[in-house]
Amino acid sequence: MSKLFTSFKLKDIEVKNRIVMAPMCMYSAGNDGIANDWHFVHYTSRAVGGAGLILQEATAVEPRGRITSNDLGLWDDNQIDGLKRIVDAVKQNGALMGVQLAHAGRKCEAEEEQIIAPSPIAFSEEYRLPKEMTKEDIKTVVQAFKDAAGRCLKVGYDIIEIHGAHGYVINEFLSPVTNKRTDEYGGSAENRARFLKEVLHAVREVWTPEKPLILRVTSEDYVEEGNHPEDLAELINLVKDEGVDIINVSSGGLVSVAPKAFQGYQVKFAEIIKEGTGLPVIAGGLIIDPHMAEEILQNNRADMIFLGRALLRNPYWPLHADYALSNEISWPKQYERAKLRRK
Ligand SMILES: Cc1cc2nc3c(=O)[nH]c(=O)nc-3n(C[C@H](O)[C@H](O)[C@H](O)COP(=O)(O)O)c2cc1C
Repeated sequence: MSKLFTSFKLKDIEVKNRIVMAPMCMYSAGNDGIANDWHFVHYTSRAVGGAGLILQEATAVEPRGRITSNDLGLWDDNQIDGLKRIVDAVKQNGALMGVQLAHAGRKCEAEEEQIIAPSPIAFSEEYRLPKEMTKEDIKTVVQAFKDAAGRCLKVGYDIIEIHGAHGYVINEFLSPVTNKRTDEYGGSAENRARFLKEVLHAVREVWTPEKPLILRVTSEDYVEEGNHPEDLAELINLVKDEGVDIINVSSGGLVSVAPKAFQGYQVKFAEIIKEGTGLPVIAGGLIIDPHMAEEILQNNRADMIFLGRALLRNPYWPLHADYALSNEISWPKQYERAKLRRK
């Protein structure tokens, strides 16, 4: 058996293989943030295709935390049913499902919202100037994460991922580039990590300790004065006792600088974070070749592999990967006659 197709245990869940579908915005909900048939087909297809863990796209914890006005949301009870239908179908088709809880901060593009951030600095000339968050705003957003986590229990997700990456509000607090506060939420690493710590603490009050929790981080800001993987390891060490089980290692998105991306460009960052925090990591970024995924796992550079665009191109990537690596897993019975066989 290839390592990519061995199971991975996280607290009370066992993922059947190491393939994680990366969270990817579909920009397909209406202004109400309610899931529809597009989301149902999109996520269920990847479960049929063999991914072990499916992470639902950035899902806003409050309306002003949306990236766009077409994001999914979990700020209202009427958003639960549409998501439950998807999660039930994903599980029936053999995968586990998590949700990425998100707040866009200064990168909210929903026109009708007043946007907020730790400091009043716009992302770029095309973006609006955010209002500096007051202590009251901080409390409101922390509570919104907690309330959304409560709804996650009702939806029936196996796992929650907190979106601490890509220049959204948590990342904005973590990075010295976007956090110029002079109160207890800015300055030292401990202060910059305080907002994230409060979010994790609040979420853990409802998402009980036996349930797994992922933290997604931007490990590299791609500007000298920003955070680098070693800084992230330090920041994670300050909050991990709040119940972080695994780190999903991404990069970029804080400022408008495009990274030089090549196959596996973030894997080194994942290794540094794994080493520096002692936590398991999910690595990825332009991974398309199953042999590359296998190498990363066999050399213990990461514990799971996330795939984004490869799974958009081909929902059956895992079934093809199994054929390329060891040809041992079974296909959905409806597709059994199409199974690729070496002999
Ligand atoms: C269409 C699209 C939407 C995305 N939306 C999200 C998102 O909601 N949350 C997130 O953390 N990353 C998001 N990403 C980034 C992916 O999760 C992933 O990190 C990135 O695509 C790199 O992996 P890949 O090279 O395998 O695609 C998105 C990427 C794409 C292509």
